[in-house]
Amino acid sequence: MGSVEFEAIQGIVRFGYGKLTDCCFLLATIKDAEKTRGWIETAPVTNAVALSDAPQTALQVAFTYEGLTKLGCSSALLSQFSTEFKTGLNNNARARLLGDVGESAPEQWFWGSENNKVDVLVMLYARPGGLDAWKEAIQSGGWNEAFRVVSELNTSYLGGTEPFGFTDGVSQPELDWERSRVPQQIEDTYTNRITLGEVLLGYPNEYNRYTDRPLLPSDASSADLLPVAEDQPNMRDFGRNGSYLVLRTLEQNVDEFWRFIRGHSEDEATAEMMAEAMVGRRKDGTPLVPLSSSPIPGVDTNDNRNHFDFASDPDGLKCPFGAHIRRANPRNGDLPSPPVSGIKRLLTLLGLGEKTLNSDAKASSRFHRILRRGREFKNTPISTQTDETSTHEGIHFMCLNANLARQFEFLQSAWLMSTKFDALTDESDPLLGSRERIEGAAPPDSFTLPSEQLGERRTVGGIPRFVRVRGGAYFFLPSLATLRYLTAIGQSRE
Ligand code: HEM
Repeated sequence: MGSVEFEAIQGIVRFGYGKLTDCCFLLATIKDAEKTRGWIETAPVTNAVALSDAPQTALQVAFTYEGLTKLGCSSALLSQFSTEFKTGLNNNARARLLGDVGESAPEQWFWGSENNKVDVLVMLYARPGGLDAWKEAIQSGGWNEAFRVVSELNTSYLGGTEPFGFTDGVSQPELDWERSRVPQQIEDTYTNRITLGEVLLGYPNEYNRYTDRPLLPSDASSADLLPVAEDQPNMRDFGRNGSYLVLRTLEQNVDEFWRFIRGHSEDEATAEMMAEAMVGRRKDGTPLVPLSSSPIPGVDTNDNRNHFDFASDPDGLKCPFGAHIRRANPRNGDLPSPPVSGIKRLLTLLGLGEKTLNSDAKASSRFHRILRRGREFKNTPISTQTDETSTHEGIHFMCLNANLARQFEFLQSAWLMSTKFDALTDESDPLLGSRERIEGAAPPDSFTLPSEQLGERRTVGGIPRFVRVRGGAYFFLPSLATLRYLTAIGQSRE
């Protein structure tokens, strides 16, 4: 297998920048394409080369489809992006699919709606106390001539805990940076290691294929700045080492969350248990199911909190089927039931295997992973650009993936929002569900708790919506080579 160009990949793909606790996201429109190209040319964008320690600061840059259009990318190039990226998050059909309805509908967003669309996302990270100076440095020079800032999203360092009170950032897929993984057509068991092509464009994905992305003929103007496409050597790869980035501002109603839970619990211990059942982990991140006795590829063996799948809990007695982490990553292999052998396996492959109520409800986990890179906010106005001064809490949810439809959108719609998941009905994700009622159907606002801790199986109904979407957009996070190409558009390079 070929090598990986860490110097060309933006660092956020490889690192969460955990030591860079201070962070803000600048969302801007492009005022002047030429000035923007000038700014990009000198911007010290941080790459993914490993250092002996985390850097003092980091800068990452991503563009929406509109942003790339304004920068002068040709229509032949732009047309090769995925439909999801081209049509954007702020789109009626997509909003319904993702549960962005009612108070969470795009028209209500304070960034990313039709009235406040953005072209560029500039992510600034710094060690404690260093953000103001870093922001000033980045916004010097031609910044004001190039951009108009629509929103400046604040973040807060909460020590790795999200506002409901649970440890966040525990589980991530492990990317196969060595490029040693050769995915099989059918894999019986759960793996946490996924091919690079699930997150980075230009590399083989879990189907052992290259995801479609913009390619240019080798003789196109400035194409020599781009790497050769691995799968099509006569083309240059605009997408290689880049990724699609999803950013959504999710406001959490923490008071309502705990009020509802306490209102349905006999005592504080039961309340805590119900909240943990909704998440699928204890507050400190400990899973609700026992650790697996067999090795799971790609699981960090130093962190016991991920060494599990749900095979030991087939009836959801310890971790409910509907728990947030069980929906977000069912940790299963490609076949509907745990590994089978011989004739039974053959029958399963032919679709003639034994059918149980939940045998077909989940797709295989490895095709639907995302790399999460979000940051929390608490006791702060969400944005310094909005007029409101009231404070809020939530997550600027961010994830990276190579295929928006198969990864982020599938996860959000088929697993989190769907009322039909793993033999459940009338339930959607207990933390995130939109609770939107479809005519003729029961309201999707209940949650079934396991019987093991309570001594009986219990369903609570009437759950309100705890998380409101306040803004969002799809971005393309280009490689550093592609950033160089973007600065060269329209220039003669004799
Ligand atoms: C305010 C909204 C959200 C809250 C409070 C929240 C909370 C959590 C918590 C506490 C965990 C367990 C710890 C961890 O592994 O990080 C978790 C895991 C996870 N969440 Fe969320 N989450 C939110 C939104 C989302 C969204 C929008 C998605 C995807 C569309 C998502 C996908 C995931 C995934 C993939 C995992 C890891 C599952 C695993 O591999 O075990 N979350 N979340």
